[in-house]
Amino acid sequence: MRLAWIEVRDFRSYSEAALEVEPGLTVVVGSNGEGKTNLLEAMYYLCALESPRVRNDLPLVRSGASSAFLRGELEAGGGRFLIEVEVRASGQNRVLINRSPVRRKRDLRRHARAVFSGPDDLHVVSGEPDERRRFMDEAARGLWPLKEGVPAAYERALRQRNRLLKDWEGGPAPQGLDAWDAELVARGSELTALRRSAVQAVAEPAAREFGRLSGDRLVVGYAPSVEGEPVEAAFGARLAERRPEELIRRTTLVGPHRDDLALFVQGLAARGFASHGEAWGAAVSLRLALAGAVRAVAGESPLTFLDDPFSALDPERRVRLAAGLGDRGQTLMAVPDEAQVPAGARVWYVKGGSVGTS
Ligand SMILES: Nc1ncnc2c1ncn2[C@@H]1O[C@H](COP(=O)(O)OP(=O)(O)OP(=O)(O)O)[C@@H](O)[C@H]1O
Ligand SMILES: [Mg+2]
Repeated sequence: MRLAWIEVRDFRSYSEAALEVEPGLTVVVGSNGEGKTNLLEAMYYLCALESPRVRNDLPLVRSGASSAFLRGELEAGGGRFLIEVEVRASGQNRVLINRSPVRRKRDLRRHARAVFSGPDDLHVVSGEPDERRRFMDEAARGLWPLKEGVPAAYERALRQRNRLLKDWEGGPAPQGLDAWDAELVARGSELTALRRSAVQAVAEPAAREFGRLSGDRLVVGYAPSVEGEPVEAAFGARLAERRPEELIRRTTLVGPHRDDLALFVQGLAARGFASHGEAWGAAVSLRLALAGAVRAVAGESPLTFLDDPFSALDPERRVRLAAGLGDRGQTLMAVPDEAQVPAGARVWYVKGGSVGTS
């Protein structure tokens, strides 16, 4: 998979930029705040139709403008896709592929695969379980874009069921609760299976990446809210068991909204025990593993984005991480210091809203 070129207008700090993107590794170099992450974000957005760092699109539109425009050409699966996106500060965005409107994001995402690693990923390792659930869902979506509706379907069932429990005025159990139990179990079992597959796909490659980076051991495993097979039966049984407590607390206590991703570094839980550099090493290993897993299912490497991957690493680990970056397919990396540019990489310099090669 290769992004051949990109044009950016009124996106973040960029009023206008046009870039040809070479295969292999390109490194974006610039001081803090000059627009390195913004540029990576623009390229990622063109493939994923969402930002890796904000949930809502408003901050993507250059302050003072009403829309941001991204255009670019992607070569994937033997085809060429001209992708054109208008990101509107308010209202629906417009997306065209080869000049035809696209309604569903997955229509693009099944062709344009991209994996983004950035400083916020530290939370996947050190933050609350919801960060790790999000990682699992992003991984699943990256691997199997056609299943991207599964987490949202569960969320909807969960919200409805919780509303029923909240609005209940006492007396016999809320009317319709059994039906919502069935829906929750159906959608939840689907999500459990999807997350299990996603974790399976990244666990071994992540251990390998981490081993290569640090010489240490990373163990990755799925820690589902509901254990036992078949999942539907186990989930239903746990739900029945906890119902009295749910009626008191008026919220759903069982299900994948309580899942976690288990991460152990050198035998200790990463969250709480890992050092800053170890935690970051695990975070970047998880993303690199995801890129490898996507390559395995898609048959070609996704676009890989590495935003400031070296900052928490010691010199030896920096060298080890840099060593493998040349042969991971098209890779875009941002670093604040030219000394961090691996030998042989192409360099883009960003300064004051413009990008140059010298
Ligand atoms: N919508 C926007 N309109 C105008 N400027 C913006 C917008 N969003 C962000 N910026 C500006 O972009 C700059 C940040 O750019 P970016 O995050 O790409 O920096 P960076 O080069 O990655 O820096 P660092 O090394 O600190 O990570 C900030 O100065 C911010 O004010
Ligand atoms: Mg940045």
